[in-house]
Amino acid sequence: MNATINLENKHFPVLLKELISIISPLYGGTFIDCTFGQGGYSEKILESKENNIIALDRDKDVLSNTSKFYKKYNKRFEFYNLKFSQLDQIKFKKHKIKGIIFDLGFSLSQIKNSQKGLSFSDKGKLNMKMGINDFSANEVISNMDEKNLTKVFKVFGDEKYSKKIAREIVIKRKDKAIKTEDLVEIIDNVKKYQKTKIHNSTKVFQALRILVNKEISELINGLINSFNLIPVGGIIAVVSFHSIEDRIVKFFFKNYSEQKNSSRYLPEAEVSERCFKLLSKKPILPTLSEIRQNPPSRSAKLRYGIKTNDKCNFNEFREKFKNLINVEDLR
Ligand SMILES: C[S@@+](CC[C@H](N)C(=O)[O-])C[C@H]1O[C@@H](n2cnc3c(N)ncnc32)[C@H](O)[C@@H]1O
Repeated sequence: MNATINLENKHFPVLLKELISIISPLYGGTFIDCTFGQGGYSEKILESKENNIIALDRDKDVLSNTSKFYKKYNKRFEFYNLKFSQLDQIKFKKHKIKGIIFDLGFSLSQIKNSQKGLSFSDKGKLNMKMGINDFSANEVISNMDEKNLTKVFKVFGDEKYSKKIAREIVIKRKDKAIKTEDLVEIIDNVKKYQKTKIHNSTKVFQALRILVNKEISELINGLINSFNLIPVGGIIAVVSFHSIEDRIVKFFFKNYSEQKNSSRYLPEAEVSERCFKLLSKKPILPTLSEIRQNPPSRSAKLRYGIKTNDKCNFNEFREKFKNLINVEDLR
């Protein structure tokens, strides 16, 4: 889920070597880093003088990481405080774009920033906003009804105790506003302080983070925008960290890289085209030595595709994940 945390609290961009080896054949142009963070990917790409970077991040706190980039790389680097669903707001010279990269989730500095309330060890008002949000986790926990809370925890967290946790939240919030530490306690109480491999609150926190940051529609719109922005021959590469993200990314590349049954009974327009060439159907995973050095990298998956066709219709992609978008829209 998180690309950059390790036990020594050091920044390690996940699957960096692997990412560079798949994009480097296209070097000599502009790459768009949709999730700049601490700039680990951007920096490596800019080491090759023939490359430029256009970087994006929804979190304006990362602006402090950009000054060294402007100084060192000058005109070869540009940064926009935008969400990747807003990629289409930037004016690009399409023919110069070689690739678009995503490293999903949150960064070490974000989880360490207690104001953001992304960690269950934080105290105080619930938040979970990564940047450019419409509402916070506090508004969800204070106002959403029991049925919808249950749905959010179930669908985005696969939380077995969704219903009980939602019921407890609704009861407890009648007395006082629920803070981060109260939510953790509610979950611990419902789960009777079970000792499991993962923290009792992991699933509910993941669900709230997905909802607050609208991570599903962000990803779907970000991928479609990327496709529309790159020329044929350009690459899209995505590192994902949880199973919902990977399902979306896998469908995007796999479904649009296979020629559909071109039934002679179907009108021409309904036969979808191949939009990507995939060099492998399997994701690239971190090596054991990377996992040892940076344990949270164990859940990372890198998938990529090379664009082969300019005309692609993504209605089926949107339709496939409509149920998830509907849950995001409950708020
Ligand atoms: C895992 S970090 C990226 C780390 C980066 N690859 C590096 O090497 O430093 C993810 C970053 O993506 C940003 N982010 C997450 N969702 C985003 C979105 N929808 N649009 C733009 N940025 C987003 C987060 O704010 C965070 O800074």
